[in-house]
Amino acid sequence: MTNKFYVPGDQRAARVNDLFDTIATRYDLINDLQSFGLHRHWKRRLVRLAAGTDASSTGSGSWPATNPARALDLCCGTGDVAFALAQCGMSVIGLDFSEPMLAVAGQKLKALSAKIEVSGGPPRAVRFLRGDAQHIPFPEASFDLVTISYGLRNLADWEAGLREMRRVLRPGGRVLVLDFGKPDNPLWRAIYFGYLRRFVPLLGRWFCGDADTHGYILESLKGYAAQKGVAAKMRELDFEDVGIVNLMGGIMSINSGRRPA
Ligand SMILES: C[S@@+](CC[C@H](N)C(=O)[O-])C[C@H]1O[C@@H](n2cnc3c(N)ncnc32)[C@H](O)[C@@H]1O
Repeated sequence: MTNKFYVPGDQRAARVNDLFDTIATRYDLINDLQSFGLHRHWKRRLVRLAAGTDASSTGSGSWPATNPARALDLCCGTGDVAFALAQCGMSVIGLDFSEPMLAVAGQKLKALSAKIEVSGGPPRAVRFLRGDAQHIPFPEASFDLVTISYGLRNLADWEAGLREMRRVLRPGGRVLVLDFGKPDNPLWRAIYFGYLRRFVPLLGRWFCGDADTHGYILESLKGYAAQKGVAAKMRELDFEDVGIVNLMGGIMSINSGRRPA
């Protein structure tokens, strides 16, 4: 069966853009429902790793003791990660190509009074920008940190996306990628894929009037290299300290790497 939002080739980005334009106003609600609220926990983990406040390492390399100052959150969507990074004291740009997703992020920003209260430090701004993660509109070495949560899998060419991230990182800067993963355990993988195949599309049907909106997740995951493939590509692209944090047996994962100093 084909999914109208998953079309490999030239039309991939346009269909993904249609998808997120369609679901923008329901995105946060469905995220909470399909993950039982756990996406908040996984994003917090990403942010702790970004800020260097996570006690565990990613399997190789150590995390910096100080906060990165300039962060880029790619495929920022409705802004969860961008806001959380700012709460750690970073100056954050959230970039996304879907105007309706950015509109929701903008409303949330307004509700947060445009500035994020930072405990123990000055408030830093969050700015949202419309743009393509495959062609990041910033010069080389502009950021200390690049994050992308549930975004890499959606890029028409995720390998080129990683190359772009490396380009805009300053030497020594870090990239963190949170996304759906592929568990090694075959039974766990079958249960989890079954959940994505049978239950998650129902949320699309009930809340967006179209099962394909959320059937897309499994289709895109099947076509994605996931945690191991992303780590291998990072090494090939000459990232250092490449690591993987598997969450809940690998159904979600955080890939990390550092541009050599
Ligand atoms: C699943 S949402 C993730 C949103 C948010 N990061 C989160 O974790 O909740 C994926 C986002 O990626 C954006 N996106 C996909 N491809 C993109 C691209 N090439 N350039 C910019 N944004 C893109 C979509 O518009 C959408 O907002």
